[in-house]
Amino acid sequence: MPTKKPRLSLIAGNWKMFKTLDEARALATAVTIGQSDLGPAPRLRIGLFPPAVSLSDVARAVRAVEEKARSGTDRAPIWVGAQNIHFEDEGAFTGEVSARMVLSAGGQAVILGHSERRQCFFEHDDEVGKKVERAVRSGLTPLLCVGETLAERDGGLTTSVVARQLAAGIAVLREAADLSRVVIAYEPVWAIGTGRNATPEEAEEVHRFLRSELGRAFESRGAAPERCEEALILYGGSVKPDNAKDLLSQPNVDGALVGGASLKAESFLKICAAAVPTQS
Ligand code: PGA
Repeated sequence: MPTKKPRLSLIAGNWKMFKTLDEARALATAVTIGQSDLGPAPRLRIGLFPPAVSLSDVARAVRAVEEKARSGTDRAPIWVGAQNIHFEDEGAFTGEVSARMVLSAGGQAVILGHSERRQCFFEHDDEVGKKVERAVRSGLTPLLCVGETLAERDGGLTTSVVARQLAAGIAVLREAADLSRVVIAYEPVWAIGTGRNATPEEAEEVHRFLRSELGRAFESRGAAPERCEEALILYGGSVKPDNAKDLLSQPNVDGALVGGASLKAESFLKICAAAVPTQS
């Protein structure tokens, strides 16, 4: 197998609409305490994406543990983020949350274009692109999700669907420097919450394709296509402790966006641990 490029690795937990405030605080604390057992992990990043109402408490819980932890131990930094934002900076948009609110609550990142947002809340490609731009302009790291449905995969449309979602998601970012801020998450819809994950080879094939599309995107913005080598492309869809290592050891899989298995500190930390040896 080709060796992995020395990129960062990100293991992100998407808590979806789970966890009350107390439960969210407790989970964040348990993950932050437990990550000391991972040992030195200089290239690992951990992301926690709680429901919006818990974001500031989760950020505070993480920082409280980190402050007490010994410094200089190469602990993996923990990012806290939101599961969505509106593309406007503020306004009369009942029920929505802005990028600035996420930042002010201690967030550094945001999941955008998740398939549940696309399917249940009818978010379309252009809207996702506007949200990605808002995130980048505001200083949040966007995790742009792309992925095909089972019907699309069976119809041989996987690459055209993810290419379209990627292109629309980054369309408004005209500068290569902005593009380099985006993290991509490949999440085949048929693998989310179904227990049926893509095989490592299936994931790798799409990740390799996405990286080459990113290379073209850098080139069209006047930058060297090789800059796509630094981009993080996460896999999501039924990632569990027992399949994480094989997925993460693929050359173009730089981390995971984890749903169900991120709701317990123990299983989430096992997935984080699976990312550490792949980096050395
Ligand atoms: P899952 O969810 O790990 O429960 O399949 C992944 C996601 O939706 O991000």
